[in-house]
Amino acid sequence: MATLLQLDSSPSPNSVSRELTHQFAQTWKTAHRDGDVIYRDLAANPPEPIDALWIGAAYTPPSSRTAEQTKTLAFSEELIGELERADEYVFGVAMHNFSIPAVLKLWIDQVVRSGRTFSYGEQGPQGLLKGKKATVVVASGGVYGLGTPAAGMNHVDSYLKTILAFVGLTDVKFINAGGSAGLMTGAVDRQTFLRPVLEQVRAAAA
Ligand SMILES: Cc1cc2nc3c(=O)[nH]c(=O)nc-3n(C[C@H](O)[C@H](O)[C@H](O)COP(=O)(O)O)c2cc1C
Repeated sequence: MATLLQLDSSPSPNSVSRELTHQFAQTWKTAHRDGDVIYRDLAANPPEPIDALWIGAAYTPPSSRTAEQTKTLAFSEELIGELERADEYVFGVAMHNFSIPAVLKLWIDQVVRSGRTFSYGEQGPQGLLKGKKATVVVASGGVYGLGTPAAGMNHVDSYLKTILAFVGLTDVKFINAGGSAGLMTGAVDRQTFLRPVLEQVRAAAA
């Protein structure tokens, strides 16, 4: 059965990225009538930061782990299980301080694990999430498109591209909803702002 992992990271009640991932999931469900959607709301349920116990457990072979170490990794295993189960992902990302929301970084720290989502071989690091497709929807107050003066300040796309490739994801599409600050000032209405981005989202999900 086709499975989509829908992940949101914005804490905002009027979130642009959430509306876009919602539309993605709706379109995807129409295209995959028997499909299953796993929903993960990181703002509502933030992952714990990794700590010394977590790191010790992650670098202990599974057969040698203590009960406490196994328990420490249980949530990480649950999140990695979702990535393994789904064949397609849609990530909703709010730009916060030129980077990703802290809750998304906490999720990344939980799922990027040696021996689970990447491994070191003779050729160096190898991603273990193979054959998956990802769409990343990024909402930002400013505009950071290639060639714009602020492009170099966008650390969302470059970081996510790097970390997703590190775990094996190469089929990754970014959809940028830049300029949402205009919604706050009233310079643009929500429908007009969202229309072209929703079109891209529907096309990516169909
Ligand atoms: C804490 C915080 C930090 C932000 N930092 C930036 C920023 O660095 N650059 C930017 O263009 N917009 C910034 N914004 C604006 C958001 O990127 C914008 O509101 C976007 O729509 C957020 O996505 P969302 O609507 O899905 O929550 C920030 C907003 C908040 C609340």
